[in-house]
Amino acid sequence: MPETREKIIAANWKMNKTFHEGLALLVELNMLLESEPTQHTVVVAPPYIHLHSAGHAVTDTGIKIAAQNCHQEANGAFTGEVSASMLESVGVEFVILGHSERRQYFGETDELVAQKIKTAAAAGLKVIYCCGEPLEVRQEEKHFELVKQQITNALKDFQPGVLKDVVIAYEPVWAIGTGLTASPEQAQEMHAFIRETLKGIFGESIAKATPILYGGSMKPGNAKALLSQPDVDGGLIGGASLVAQDFFDIIHSFPA
Ligand code: 13P
Repeated sequence: MPETREKIIAANWKMNKTFHEGLALLVELNMLLESEPTQHTVVVAPPYIHLHSAGHAVTDTGIKIAAQNCHQEANGAFTGEVSASMLESVGVEFVILGHSERRQYFGETDELVAQKIKTAAAAGLKVIYCCGEPLEVRQEEKHFELVKQQITNALKDFQPGVLKDVVIAYEPVWAIGTGLTASPEQAQEMHAFIRETLKGIFGESIAKATPILYGGSMKPGNAKALLSQPDVDGGLIGGASLVAQDFFDIIHSFPA
């Protein structure tokens, strides 16, 4: 039943905000949420270096802290990298994996992301697994095929138990940072397809319970229409999450 699924609004700051700017943004969001709380899950993913302090800044608000990435190995000689257990040790609860920017600029494949999911889950982190097609794939009408592949390749080897800690984010690449948004109908169509794909791999109860977020130019002006779709369980927000009031307005855009 859709109404029993967890609803989640997550902020992905990407490589934005210095330490002080980031804390100021969190404090402002914190104040807004104190004045008007939400029953839904709010997640904020700042850059690595802010994570420890971010955890302290939001202690009383219920905001959960996410990392934007982690390494696929549990530990070892990987200069410059950060492990899942390090993240967990500073209070991080979620990690975003498989973001299209990591796939595009850092060569991450479904197989690598599958390794990361395994390591993250073993460290006790919840995973926001991103999938979504580039523009040319949609133009060729191969978007369902690609998303099915991304979901299957990254998740098929996990026991259903791991899936309770996995959230899917559908982020069509052509909608990220472009101001173009998938229409509510396009988002619903793909989210329902992702749920069918999950059903095929893990069965109906996992498929029904897994939150599927939409990401790609979600803003206060379009959030309500997207979040009203039956299979859209939340959002993963980039640009609009860098302004506290905009992100707060999106959080409060779920239908009552
Ligand atoms: P925008 O909201 O800036 O389009 O970014 C979406 C995104 O990539 C979130 O992970």
